[in-house]
Amino acid sequence: MERKPKLLWGTATSSYQIEGAVDEDGRTPSIWDTFCATPGTVVAGETGEIACDHYHRMPEDVALMAGLGIDVYRFSLAWPRVQPDGTGPGNPKGIAFYDRLVDELLARGILPWITLYHWDLPQALEDAGGWPGRDTAYRFAEYAAIAHDALGDRVRQWTTLNEPWCSAMLGYVSGRHAPGRRDARAGFAALHHLLLGHGLAAQAIREGAHAGGRADGLEVGITLNLSPKIPATASPEDLAAALWEDGLSNRLYLDPLLRGEYPADIAGKLEELGCPLPVRDGDLAIIAQPLDVLGVNYYSSSVVAAAPAGQNRWPGTATIARDVERTAMDWEVTPEELTHLLLRLEREYPGPAWYITENGAAYADEPDENGYVDDVDRENYLRTHIDAALEARERGVNLRGYFAWSLFDNFEWSFGYDRRFGIVRVDYDTQKRTPKRSARYFAERVAREKALES
Ligand code: FCB
Repeated sequence: MERKPKLLWGTATSSYQIEGAVDEDGRTPSIWDTFCATPGTVVAGETGEIACDHYHRMPEDVALMAGLGIDVYRFSLAWPRVQPDGTGPGNPKGIAFYDRLVDELLARGILPWITLYHWDLPQALEDAGGWPGRDTAYRFAEYAAIAHDALGDRVRQWTTLNEPWCSAMLGYVSGRHAPGRRDARAGFAALHHLLLGHGLAAQAIREGAHAGGRADGLEVGITLNLSPKIPATASPEDLAAALWEDGLSNRLYLDPLLRGEYPADIAGKLEELGCPLPVRDGDLAIIAQPLDVLGVNYYSSSVVAAAPAGQNRWPGTATIARDVERTAMDWEVTPEELTHLLLRLEREYPGPAWYITENGAAYADEPDENGYVDDVDRENYLRTHIDAALEARERGVNLRGYFAWSLFDNFEWSFGYDRRFGIVRVDYDTQKRTPKRSARYFAERVAREKALES
């Protein structure tokens, strides 16, 4: 019988959410430092200045991961540490931190999995136009080459972008994330340039790996936040509304990356609405680089119905609430939709290895006097979603791994420290880490799944 490749089990974090040390060793401000310093953007005016102080506690944190028995750790590099001006040479002191992290992980038998961009653009690049400007895509490829040159001798798993939808739509359209701009036209330009940057960076990494004899086992990919949009009824209006939302959230990313074209219905409508995708000849071939890995961040799904047209003639849609459990983010808990999503991906976009690069939940944790959280709700969330992912694998999806979001409670963007996603509690006054019940569950589940496979 053909044996499937073993699943990799891991936890995920990102640089700005955990590192702190925002002005150490030559790191320059990112758009998130600037955004946080702007009144009214983040709950309680909180910032990533200290966060989980991971920059100073890294060895202890890696030891904690090793205790969970994970195979792999997904983390991101802070671009303003690695290449502070967003152009020009790398910063040896900033790179040294990731050098130590990679070595520490490998010494503990944990695979390092690098994400190059988890939203902390050097402020200097935003000042020069940010992602709506085409040049940022080329700067990103330059940074990718510097990072790969420094770490590619030991790291084979490279993700270019985390959730370009968030960078483009929340960063430049709704303004809920850094840099906080509200300009739909700029947002769709940003989206295209992010994807172009992905393609250019993927090329740079592959070229660097081949030239340096480091191509063995290299896996290059991207992570998308994908969310099923389920029509409320079978009426033509609701079907059209769900198709539009699916286009904006999912197909606008999957199609160019895996089919080399933007979905015509969405691209055409965006053009009509004055938000064209600024595609130049040759761009789509660059974006549709061969992808080894497509990372799926899955949290929830939604039911969509038609609604009266929105502002400036934008198609009107409404989200219909279901009678299901919700997390502290008010996201509906729908594990079965993860199975459906993975089956759809394998059917409609076959090719890459699929990894769940993030999955997890925020709940209103209540620690006891020792800081222990008996988070049965988070344990249930993880269990049902891991089950759902494994079911898709049973049914033929080329799923290769699962990462819990997140290892730690951390800086949850515009929600500050108010929403806790960690399987390990962080007491922000003392920086004490305490594994929650969900961490114990995850460690046991990982051990069990690995025993079943061996
Ligand atoms: C994802 C982000 C991650 C975290 C989780 C809850 O969109 O990639 O940084 O905020 O959501």
